[in-house]
Amino acid sequence: MKILFVGDVVGSPGRDMVSEYLPRLKKKYMPELTIVNGENAAAGRGITEKIYRQFMNDGANAVTLGNHAWDNKDIFEFIDKAKWLVRPANFPKGTPGNGMVFVKNAGVEVAVINLQGRTFMPALDDPFQEVERLVEEARERTPIIFVDFHAEATSEKQALGWFLDGRVSAVVGTHTHVQTADNRVLPGGTAYLSDVGMTGPYDSVLGMEKEPVLKRFLTSLPVRFEVPKSGRAQLSACVIEIDRKTGKAKSINRILINEDSPFIAE
Ligand SMILES: [Fe+2]
Ligand SMILES: [Fe+2]
Repeated sequence: MKILFVGDVVGSPGRDMVSEYLPRLKKKYMPELTIVNGENAAAGRGITEKIYRQFMNDGANAVTLGNHAWDNKDIFEFIDKAKWLVRPANFPKGTPGNGMVFVKNAGVEVAVINLQGRTFMPALDDPFQEVERLVEEARERTPIIFVDFHAEATSEKQALGWFLDGRVSAVVGTHTHVQTADNRVLPGGTAYLSDVGMTGPYDSVLGMEKEPVLKRFLTSLPVRFEVPKSGRAQLSACVIEIDRKTGKAKSINRILINEDSPFIAE
Protein backbone atom coordinates (compact mmCIF):
# COMPACT_ATOMS: atom_id res chain seq x y z
CA MET A 1 0.00 0.00 0.00
CA LYS A 2 1.05 3.59 -0.52
CA ILE A 3 0.83 6.82 1.47
CA LEU A 4 1.08 10.17 -0.28
CA PHE A 5 2.08 13.03 2.00
CA VAL A 6 2.09 16.73 1.07
CA GLY A 7 4.32 19.12 3.07
CA ASP A 8 3.36 22.41 4.74
CA VAL A 9 0.71 24.06 2.55
CA VAL A 10 1.17 27.84 2.70
CA GLY A 11 -1.74 30.18 1.98
CA SER A 12 -3.88 30.31 -1.16
CA PRO A 13 -0.95 29.63 -3.54
CA GLY A 14 -0.32 26.36 -1.65
CA ARG A 15 -4.01 25.47 -1.51
CA ASP A 16 -4.34 26.07 -5.25
CA MET A 17 -1.41 23.71 -5.87
CA VAL A 18 -3.12 21.04 -3.75
CA SER A 19 -6.39 21.46 -5.67
CA GLU A 20 -4.60 21.32 -9.00
CA TYR A 21 -2.11 18.51 -8.37
CA LEU A 22 -3.53 16.26 -5.66
CA PRO A 23 -5.97 14.58 -8.07
CA ARG A 24 -3.16 14.16 -10.61
CA LEU A 25 -0.73 12.77 -8.02
CA LYS A 26 -3.39 10.37 -6.76
CA LYS A 27 -4.00 9.17 -10.30
CA LYS A 28 -0.28 8.64 -10.83
CA TYR A 29 0.62 6.94 -7.53
CA MET A 30 -2.75 5.41 -6.51
CA PRO A 31 -2.14 5.88 -2.76
CA GLU A 32 -4.49 4.18 -0.29
CA LEU A 33 -3.98 7.14 1.98
CA THR A 34 -3.29 10.83 1.37
CA ILE A 35 -2.21 13.19 4.13
CA VAL A 36 -1.64 16.95 3.93
CA ASN A 37 0.17 19.16 6.44
CA GLY A 38 -2.04 22.25 6.78
CA GLU A 39 -0.42 24.27 9.59
CA ASN A 40 0.17 27.31 7.31
CA ALA A 41 -2.85 26.90 5.05
CA ALA A 42 -4.77 29.99 6.22
CA ALA A 43 -2.70 32.94 4.96
CA GLY A 44 0.44 31.27 6.33
CA ARG A 45 -0.92 30.95 9.86
CA GLY A 46 -3.10 28.08 10.99
CA ILE A 47 -6.13 26.54 9.34
CA THR A 48 -9.89 27.21 9.10
CA GLU A 49 -12.73 24.71 8.95
CA LYS A 50 -13.42 25.68 5.33
CA ILE A 51 -9.82 24.98 4.33
CA TYR A 52 -9.80 21.68 6.21
CA ARG A 53 -12.93 20.64 4.30
CA GLN A 54 -11.38 21.79 1.02
CA PHE A 55 -8.37 19.51 1.61
CA MET A 56 -10.73 16.59 2.23
CA ASN A 57 -12.64 17.47 -0.96
CA ASP A 58 -9.35 17.64 -2.88
CA GLY A 59 -8.65 14.05 -1.83
CA ALA A 60 -6.89 14.14 1.55
CA ASN A 61 -7.82 11.53 4.17
CA ALA A 62 -6.13 13.34 7.06
CA VAL A 63 -4.61 16.75 7.79
CA THR A 64 -1.66 17.22 10.14
CA LEU A 65 -0.58 20.44 11.85
CA GLY A 66 2.39 21.90 13.74
CA ASN A 67 3.51 24.92 15.75
CA HIS A 68 1.14 27.19 13.79
CA ALA A 69 -1.88 25.00 14.64
CA TRP A 70 -3.42 27.63 16.93
CA ASP A 71 -2.64 30.80 14.94
CA ASN A 72 -6.09 31.05 13.37
CA LYS A 73 -8.58 31.14 16.23
CA ASP A 74 -11.15 29.26 14.10
CA ILE A 75 -9.33 26.10 15.13
CA PHE A 76 -10.84 26.14 18.62
CA GLU A 77 -14.34 26.13 17.09
CA PHE A 78 -13.93 23.05 14.93
CA ILE A 79 -10.93 20.97 16.06
CA ASP A 80 -13.00 18.72 18.28
CA LYS A 81 -15.40 17.78 15.49
CA ALA A 82 -12.75 17.55 12.74
CA LYS A 83 -12.23 13.79 12.88
CA TRP A 84 -9.24 13.66 10.56
CA LEU A 85 -7.34 16.65 11.87
CA VAL A 86 -4.18 15.81 13.81
CA ARG A 87 -2.32 18.32 15.99
CA PRO A 88 1.05 17.72 17.67
CA ALA A 89 0.53 14.98 20.25
CA ASN A 90 3.01 16.32 22.77
CA PHE A 91 0.98 19.37 23.82
CA PRO A 92 -0.01 19.20 27.51
CA LYS A 93 -2.95 17.05 28.60
CA GLY A 94 -6.26 18.85 28.09
CA THR A 95 -5.22 20.53 24.80
CA PRO A 96 -8.11 20.38 22.29
CA GLY A 97 -7.92 17.93 19.42
CA ASN A 98 -6.03 14.67 18.88
CA GLY A 99 -2.38 13.84 18.35
CA MET A 100 -3.15 10.51 16.72
CA VAL A 101 -6.04 9.46 14.49
CA PHE A 102 -6.83 6.13 12.85
CA VAL A 103 -7.81 6.41 9.20
CA LYS A 104 -9.35 3.49 7.36
CA ASN A 105 -9.40 3.60 3.59
CA ALA A 106 -9.37 0.96 0.84
CA GLY A 107 -9.34 -1.80 3.47
CA VAL A 108 -6.24 -0.57 5.33
CA GLU A 109 -6.10 1.15 8.68
CA VAL A 110 -3.32 3.64 9.31
CA ALA A 111 -2.42 5.42 12.54
CA VAL A 112 -1.46 9.02 11.73
CA ILE A 113 0.61 10.73 14.41
CA ASN A 114 1.72 14.37 14.53
CA LEU A 115 4.55 15.40 16.88
CA GLN A 116 6.42 18.63 17.45
CA GLY A 117 10.15 18.95 18.11
CA ARG A 118 11.67 20.84 21.03
CA THR A 119 15.03 21.94 19.63
CA PHE A 120 14.92 25.65 18.61
CA MET A 121 11.15 25.51 19.17
CA PRO A 122 8.74 26.40 22.01
CA ALA A 123 8.88 24.13 25.04
CA LEU A 124 6.50 21.16 24.91
CA ASP A 125 6.24 17.69 26.42
CA ASP A 126 8.88 15.18 25.33
CA PRO A 127 7.95 13.94 21.80
CA PHE A 128 10.03 10.77 22.26
CA GLN A 129 8.18 9.63 25.38
CA GLU A 130 4.84 10.65 23.91
CA VAL A 131 5.35 8.76 20.66
CA GLU A 132 6.51 5.67 22.56
CA ARG A 133 3.14 5.59 24.30
CA LEU A 134 1.19 6.28 21.09
CA VAL A 135 3.01 3.63 19.07
CA GLU A 136 2.19 1.02 21.70
CA GLU A 137 -1.47 2.03 21.53
CA ALA A 138 -1.48 2.10 17.71
CA ARG A 139 0.15 -1.30 17.29
CA GLU A 140 -2.78 -2.95 19.03
CA ARG A 141 -4.89 -1.88 16.04
CA THR A 142 -2.55 -1.68 13.05
CA PRO A 143 1.11 -2.17 12.08
CA ILE A 144 0.87 0.77 9.64
CA ILE A 145 1.90 3.90 11.51
CA PHE A 146 2.76 7.24 9.92
CA VAL A 147 4.56 9.94 11.92
CA ASP A 148 4.74 13.60 10.79
CA PHE A 149 7.53 15.01 12.97
CA HIS A 150 7.16 18.79 12.85
CA ALA A 151 10.58 19.96 13.96
CA GLU A 152 13.38 22.39 13.20
CA ALA A 153 16.57 20.46 13.88
CA THR A 154 17.65 17.68 11.53
CA SER A 155 19.43 16.05 14.49
CA GLU A 156 16.20 15.75 16.45
CA LYS A 157 14.44 14.38 13.37
CA GLN A 158 17.12 11.80 12.61
CA ALA A 159 17.18 10.76 16.26
CA LEU A 160 13.42 10.16 16.21
CA GLY A 161 13.79 8.19 12.98
CA TRP A 162 16.30 5.85 14.63
CA PHE A 163 14.25 5.73 17.85
CA LEU A 164 11.21 4.46 15.92
CA ASP A 165 13.01 2.36 13.30
CA GLY A 166 11.23 -0.97 12.97
CA ARG A 167 8.27 0.19 15.06
CA VAL A 168 6.54 2.57 12.63
CA SER A 169 6.15 2.65 8.85
CA ALA A 170 7.40 6.19 8.33
CA VAL A 171 8.93 9.17 10.10
CA VAL A 172 8.63 12.17 7.83
CA GLY A 173 9.64 15.70 8.77
CA THR A 174 7.83 18.99 8.24
CA HIS A 175 8.27 22.61 9.43
CA THR A 176 11.51 23.79 7.77
CA HIS A 177 9.71 24.30 4.41
CA VAL A 178 12.82 23.08 2.55
CA GLN A 179 12.87 19.57 1.11
CA THR A 180 15.86 17.47 2.12
CA ALA A 181 17.42 14.82 -0.14
CA ASP A 182 17.91 12.14 2.55
CA ASN A 183 14.92 9.89 1.84
CA ARG A 184 15.75 6.29 2.75
CA VAL A 185 14.33 3.19 4.36
CA LEU A 186 16.15 2.61 7.67
CA PRO A 187 17.43 -0.94 8.35
CA GLY A 188 14.45 -1.85 10.56
CA GLY A 189 11.96 -0.92 7.83
CA THR A 190 10.99 2.66 8.68
CA ALA A 191 10.83 5.14 5.80
CA TYR A 192 12.61 8.37 6.70
CA LEU A 193 12.88 11.90 5.26
CA SER A 194 14.12 14.87 7.33
CA ASP A 195 11.77 17.33 5.64
CA VAL A 196 9.18 17.02 2.89
CA GLY A 197 9.35 20.74 2.06
CA MET A 198 6.76 23.43 1.47
CA THR A 199 3.76 23.71 -0.84
CA GLY A 200 3.19 27.34 -1.76
CA PRO A 201 4.92 30.39 -3.26
CA TYR A 202 8.04 29.36 -5.17
CA ASP A 203 9.69 32.81 -5.33
CA SER A 204 9.55 33.38 -1.58
CA VAL A 205 11.39 32.85 1.69
CA LEU A 206 9.77 29.74 3.17
CA GLY A 207 6.45 30.74 1.57
CA MET A 208 6.49 34.39 2.65
CA GLU A 209 7.10 37.53 0.55
CA LYS A 210 10.83 38.06 0.09
CA GLU A 211 10.99 41.83 0.69
CA PRO A 212 9.75 41.97 4.32
CA VAL A 213 12.01 39.03 5.21
CA LEU A 214 14.97 40.84 3.66
CA LYS A 215 14.02 43.98 5.56
CA ARG A 216 13.99 42.02 8.80
CA PHE A 217 17.45 40.63 8.13
CA LEU A 218 18.82 43.99 7.00
CA THR A 219 17.35 46.11 9.80
CA SER A 220 16.61 43.65 12.65
CA LEU A 221 13.33 45.54 13.15
CA PRO A 222 10.01 43.71 13.55
CA VAL A 223 8.29 43.22 10.20
CA ARG A 224 4.99 41.52 9.39
CA PHE A 225 5.31 38.68 6.89
CA GLU A 226 2.61 37.98 4.32
CA VAL A 227 2.06 35.23 1.77
CA PRO A 228 2.51 36.62 -1.79
CA LYS A 229 -0.84 37.00 -3.54
CA SER A 230 0.40 36.04 -6.98
CA GLY A 231 3.38 34.43 -8.64
CA ARG A 232 4.80 30.98 -9.22
CA ALA A 233 4.06 28.13 -6.82
CA GLN A 234 5.46 24.73 -5.91
CA LEU A 235 4.27 21.50 -4.34
CA SER A 236 6.45 19.34 -2.10
CA ALA A 237 5.47 15.81 -1.19
CA CYS A 238 6.64 12.24 -0.78
CA VAL A 239 5.21 8.83 -1.53
CA ILE A 240 5.88 5.84 0.70
CA GLU A 241 5.31 2.21 -0.23
CA ILE A 242 4.48 -0.03 2.71
CA ASP A 243 3.91 -3.76 3.16
CA ARG A 244 0.35 -3.82 4.43
CA LYS A 245 0.84 -7.00 6.49
CA THR A 246 4.03 -6.07 8.35
CA GLY A 247 3.78 -2.26 8.20
CA LYS A 248 7.39 -2.10 7.03
CA ALA A 249 8.31 0.41 4.34
CA LYS A 250 9.66 -0.73 0.99
CA SER A 251 10.51 2.66 -0.47
CA ILE A 252 10.17 6.41 0.00
CA ASN A 253 10.42 8.85 -2.89
CA ARG A 254 10.42 12.64 -2.93
CA ILE A 255 8.09 14.70 -5.11
CA LEU A 256 8.80 18.31 -6.04
CA ILE A 257 6.66 20.17 -8.56
CA ASN A 258 7.54 23.66 -9.75
CA GLU A 259 8.42 25.44 -12.98
CA ASP A 260 11.97 24.09 -12.87
CA SER A 261 10.78 20.57 -12.10
CA PRO A 262 7.39 20.04 -13.81
CA PHE A 263 4.90 17.30 -13.03
CA ILE A 264 5.26 14.18 -15.16
CA ALA A 265 2.03 12.24 -15.47
CA GLU A 266 3.56 8.74 -15.54
FE1 LIG B 1 5.13 25.24 8.28
FE1 LIG C 1 5.95 24.87 11.53
